Amino acid sequence: MRIVILTGAGISAESGLGTFRDVGGLWARYDMAEVATPEGFARDPGKVHDFYNARRANAAGSVPNAAHLALGRLVSARPGEVVLVTQNIDDLHERGGAAGVIHMHGELFRALCAACGARWDAPAAMHPGDACPVCGARATRPDVVWFGEIPYHLDRIFDALAKAELFVAIGTSGSVYPAAGFVAEARAVGARTLELNLAPSDVAGAFDAVRLGPASEVVPAWVAEVLGG
Ligand code: APR
Repeated sequence: MRIVILTGAGISAESGLGTFRDVGGLWARYDMAEVATPEGFARDPGKVHDFYNARRANAAGSVPNAAHLALGRLVSARPGEVVLVTQNIDDLHERGGAAGVIHMHGELFRALCAACGARWDAPAAMHPGDACPVCGARATRPDVVWFGEIPYHLDRIFDALAKAELFVAIGTSGSVYPAAGFVAEARAVGARTLELNLAPSDVAGAFDAVRLGPASEVVPAWVAEVLGG
């Protein structure tokens, strides 16, 4: 069965990484316009690097939870059948055993040169004066997708949705497009749809079924059903 899975910050919540819109979430503590937009980066690159350096340290100190491990098991057990798309920029899916993860909002542990487009593994901390290892320009940034920028790999994602038989959204509020519209794409081709979340998302009504509970409980239970134990 061809399954497309979309995950959001909620799957990493129990690993200690903040979500964005829950009470006390990142956007309650930081102004997204200042730390997650190209304009904010142009205005104060040091503040943006500090924000992502702190998130990189937090992610480096976290461990995958049972939900990441369960999805790693599913991806490994069904090679070629499961497409795992994440809005998250942490590496917990990979550390939980999933290969081929599609990071549509980029990756915290990768760096990008805004001048020549080179990408490399990010150092623990990045600073405005860092030089690109390829072209030397002092135009390095985290390889993450900011508001107003185009998410990565949309062609691969929409291609997978067009062939999906099941679409599962896990731990995402359904408040940011295009990801929030994936469920409609899946329904349009007759796929069944399932939402696994702590609370109903903004698009919960579009799903055939919604199972509520912490990801560390509902995701392993669902994977066990799919794998038959
Ligand atoms: N288990 C499962 N779901 C959880 C848990 C948990 N333990 N804790 C929180 N959640 C759910 C919330 O119910 C909510 O639906 O996680 C979701 C968090 O929503 P957001 O904070 O909006 O995160 P997300 O949907 O990933 O945001 C999408 O917005 O700011 C941008 O680029 C950022 O990728 C992010 C995008």
